Amino acid sequence: MEIKKVGVLGCGLMGSGIAQVAAMAGFDVTSLEVEQKFLDKGFAGIEKSLAKFAEKGTIKETPQAIRARLKGTTKKEDLADCDIIVEAVIENVEEKKKMYSALDAIVKKEAIFASNTSSISITELLTAAKRPERFIGLHFFNPVPLMKLVEVVRTIATADEVYETAYEFGKNLGKVPVRTSDKTGFIVNRLLVPYMLDAIRAYEEGVGSIEDIDQAMKLGCGYPMGPFTLLDFVGLDTTYYITHVMYDEFKERRFASPPLLKRLVMAGWYGRKSGRGFYDYADPANPKPNKL
Ligand code: 3HC
Repeated sequence: MEIKKVGVLGCGLMGSGIAQVAAMAGFDVTSLEVEQKFLDKGFAGIEKSLAKFAEKGTIKETPQAIRARLKGTTKKEDLADCDIIVEAVIENVEEKKKMYSALDAIVKKEAIFASNTSSISITELLTAAKRPERFIGLHFFNPVPLMKLVEVVRTIATADEVYETAYEFGKNLGKVPVRTSDKTGFIVNRLLVPYMLDAIRAYEEGVGSIEDIDQAMKLGCGYPMGPFTLLDFVGLDTTYYITHVMYDEFKERRFASPPLLKRLVMAGWYGRKSGRGFYDYADPANPKPNKL
């Protein structure tokens, strides 16, 4: 099966990034949102990112030529003839299922349904549509235009031909696909989440300051960001949500939220996006660790 037309559900941080890389790779893309204002915000981010790439000479086409392959819509019917639907809506099982169920009746039968969820079971999501063999996970990483990886997630119901089509699609997007199966967290979050939670526990136990733990992991391990910078970047609310899904699945302490993470989330300190998390972003170019 050949993929030509891509539908992306949600035009937030991840959805707009996925739409952008698909358009950059030459696909015709339609992004679906509930309101025009969310499309406007997502597309403004895409234009900024394309301008940056153009300035650096990393894209062969003009931003306008890439942008011309991107359409935004608030009508599900506009996705009827897509070959693949990549869902990147809010991490909420019921919301995602509602979306899949509505689209199943509209989008052509042969189309592949993919989810960018970071922790929700793909098998649970596939129950919302009547195409279990054509359902997979495609998990991208933030910031999508820069991060090279995509996890291609197989369920017990996925047809081989669908899986291979999705794997090739990942390559055609300019990403490096890895094969994984529908176990909560897939590969990256299975390893990354306990690492980030351990950093919080180390801080709670007085092993080091926020800044020193970040410096240690950056300079000692060559990571691009220390764990607290990364937690604030991913979003503390998002991480907290993931801990619940992972703890529920495995019942192991390493996936459970440390008390400090819970308190930060309760206080509305979600990290970079809310201006405050482990660091304070009053001056975004010069974040200061909070006294926690
Ligand atoms: N589009 C185009 N260019 C962009 C961009 C975008 N969306 N975002 C950043 N850039 C540019 C910057 O403007 C900058 O350009 P410049 O060199 O001209 O100033 C350049 O990329 C490098 O950015 P920075 O100088 O800000 O910083 P870094 O060199 O540290 O690179 C990074 C940024 C790629 C984000 C790097 O810090 C990194 O790899 N961090 C780790 C990110 C990570 O681990 N992500 C995964 C999170 S987990 C996840 O997503 C899974 C989920 O399920 C939880």
